[in-house]
Amino acid sequence: MRIGILTGGGDCPGLNAVIRGAVRAAEVTYDSTVIGFRNAWRGVMEDDYEPLDVEVCRGILPRGGTILGTSRDQPFAREDGLKLVRKAYDRHGLDAIIAVGGEGSMGVVNELHQNGFPVIGVPKTIDNDIQLTEMTFGFQTAVQICTDAIDRLHTTAESHHRVLVVEVMGRHVGHIAIWSGLAGGAAMTLTPEEPFDIEEVCERIVGRHRKGRYATIIVVAEGALPKPGTFQIPEPEVDSYGHKVLGGIGHILEREIHGRTGIETRTTVLGHIQRGGSPVAFDRVLGTRFGVAAVEAALDGAWGEMVALQQGRIGRVPVKDAIGSLKTVAPDLLRLNTMFQPRLPGDDHPGIPE
Ligand code: F6P
Repeated sequence: MRIGILTGGGDCPGLNAVIRGAVRAAEVTYDSTVIGFRNAWRGVMEDDYEPLDVEVCRGILPRGGTILGTSRDQPFAREDGLKLVRKAYDRHGLDAIIAVGGEGSMGVVNELHQNGFPVIGVPKTIDNDIQLTEMTFGFQTAVQICTDAIDRLHTTAESHHRVLVVEVMGRHVGHIAIWSGLAGGAAMTLTPEEPFDIEEVCERIVGRHRKGRYATIIVVAEGALPKPGTFQIPEPEVDSYGHKVLGGIGHILEREIHGRTGIETRTTVLGHIQRGGSPVAFDRVLGTRFGVAAVEAALDGAWGEMVALQQGRIGRVPVKDAIGSLKTVAPDLLRLNTMFQPRLPGDDHPGIPE
């Protein structure tokens, strides 16, 4: 087979493991060839590509980012997009394109499949919010980076008896926030799944600090929102692709917490640090498994399917079933999060004694 591969959307540790896995499986096991399109669908439409082989992929496994580059360009945003994609298939004699990307990219895979293109999806996002796959590579790396940061912040928070707010990624879901909040022993973690009441957050903080010896770490997902009717936050700006540019809720919380409690409060926004650098072992292995599985899906002609992690094994699902909604944090983890926050009188759960 001749296979094209591309990486789209925000980058993510483990993308190079997918590319390497796909190339090795294609070349060594299945006597096939792979070309890589640069900067996602832009490379397909502008014929910007490079031949990939085992030699080219040497040494990329521990590298963050993507050797192919990425963009949010996609064929359905241009009038001539589909025609250009068809040309690319013909020009290179492609039997398949493997598209590695997030929710938006999986939407493109679905539409291309419906237009008759042989295409396979590989789910990618540090946010871990794609349906029907238990995990996406990059997520564990992001969680580890956040946990390491929280560990460091504990000691300085304690020295100053401060509240430290840590803002982590998670546009629509709180997977990174909950995992790193639990792993880092945050006092409270605020997620998009459960809008917060600022009064209540402050009461819990004051309760802790009244005991005299506590500092407080609050983890907040960038997409977390106050409960409607509590207080207003400004609308985020929108980038050239129509995506809301998030980041800022941490500083808003800092202002509110300081203003309402009088306790000195500071904010750390981890931002793109969460997406950079070397993937942890889990993400390298998952990326490798996804890359190999995507080539095998192409060889099976499983067009319009997405590889997925299900009960620890690699399977495939129709990409149409994986889009349209996002995978939110499971109720048991949300409950665990609530159990580990400072207790208030009237809480209907045991909480943690202070
Ligand atoms: O979707 C993954 C993600 O990392 C989000 O958590 C974050 O909001 C967004 O990408 C940031 O995107 P950009 O790289 O365009 O700033």
